[in-house]
Amino acid sequence: MSETDGLRYGLMVNPGHNRVYFESSKAMARAELEIACRCFETPCGDFRPLEVEGIHLLSFRAGRPLSEPDLLLLSRLSFVFAIFHLEARGNDFALLPIRKRRTGVMNDDVGTILKYSGKTNELFTRMMMNVGLLSGRFAKESGISLLDPVAGKGTTLFEAAMSGWNAYGVEIGEKAVHEMSVFFRKYLETGKYKHVMTQERISGEGRRFRSEMTRFEYSVSKEAQKAGAKQILCMVEGDSQYADQYFRREQFHLIVGDLPYGVQHGSHSQTVSPSLTRNPRELVKACLPAWLEVLKPGGTLVLAWNQFVLDRDSFASVFRIKGLTVLSDPPYDGFLHRVDQAINRDMIVVRKN
Ligand SMILES: C[S@@+](CC[C@H](N)C(=O)[O-])C[C@H]1O[C@@H](n2cnc3c(N)ncnc32)[C@H](O)[C@@H]1O
Repeated sequence: MSETDGLRYGLMVNPGHNRVYFESSKAMARAELEIACRCFETPCGDFRPLEVEGIHLLSFRAGRPLSEPDLLLLSRLSFVFAIFHLEARGNDFALLPIRKRRTGVMNDDVGTILKYSGKTNELFTRMMMNVGLLSGRFAKESGISLLDPVAGKGTTLFEAAMSGWNAYGVEIGEKAVHEMSVFFRKYLETGKYKHVMTQERISGEGRRFRSEMTRFEYSVSKEAQKAGAKQILCMVEGDSQYADQYFRREQFHLIVGDLPYGVQHGSHSQTVSPSLTRNPRELVKACLPAWLEVLKPGGTLVLAWNQFVLDRDSFASVFRIKGLTVLSDPPYDGFLHRVDQAINRDMIVVRKN
């Protein structure tokens, strides 16, 4: 596509993924955009950074004006702060703002109010969800169900709730699950969202595990309530290696998780339980059979992990089994970024065929 064909669009990149290492945020934004454009109705290409009047933009060309579904998809990308049509004026461009479409069904404060150490950045979480959905067979479907198998205090579940998806999580830390459910209940009450909360004990495999499931069924608006439309947010306090005991076979379109980063418990993994290790390779090896059981064919598994603990090839080898495809060609190799001194976070995308 040459500069004279079609239209050029410019996106202002939200620095919120990582203000300290903003250069890597820009690279991730480009990777997310390239993956999204593969799902656009309008052919797009020629991705490049541009500076107009001192404003830094990530730009691309479209063969024709973007359709409404394309603009909706573009608006939900994690980094998109503002969208412009770039109109060529001599050697420069004029910026013509395009309304960013509303994509959330709830306020986005549901994912930001709860603050705690160890929380995964909400924008990075949204990026993982987008990349996962857009890399699988369900990119254009509604009624998406997502599982975060290492859910912490629920960042992924809240981002999924905001997107209008059903959100399910497994978290081994009792305190984290308690805090998350107290918060969400209060959030629904304060926002006057009609809801029902239930709790249920689950045990199985000859009582090898005992877990507790907290389930919220809620309406996102008065209109949804009138139409009888309900969303689910459900958290199991338990061990992720039993995910197939908590959930139905092929229940999920998408599995998204930010794995533990540390190494300090890794050496105990043989003597305790492989799924309790903080080493991502051992944790995934122990849990993968259960995760694959609950993932639909055509669905994707997106996991973030710390490269300082494990290099990409060693991690990817865990997924080289029949029926899985690791997406590793560009732009899928563009998500490595420094979080802090101890964490060099990367993201792997695996498709179940
Ligand atoms: C990096 S944290 C996830 C943080 C989360 N995304 C958030 O923003 O709150 C990883 C989580 O995995 C949990 N975890 C580790 N092993 C687990 C297992 N076998 N089953 C379930 N959860 C596990 C840890 O307790 C920790 O909360």
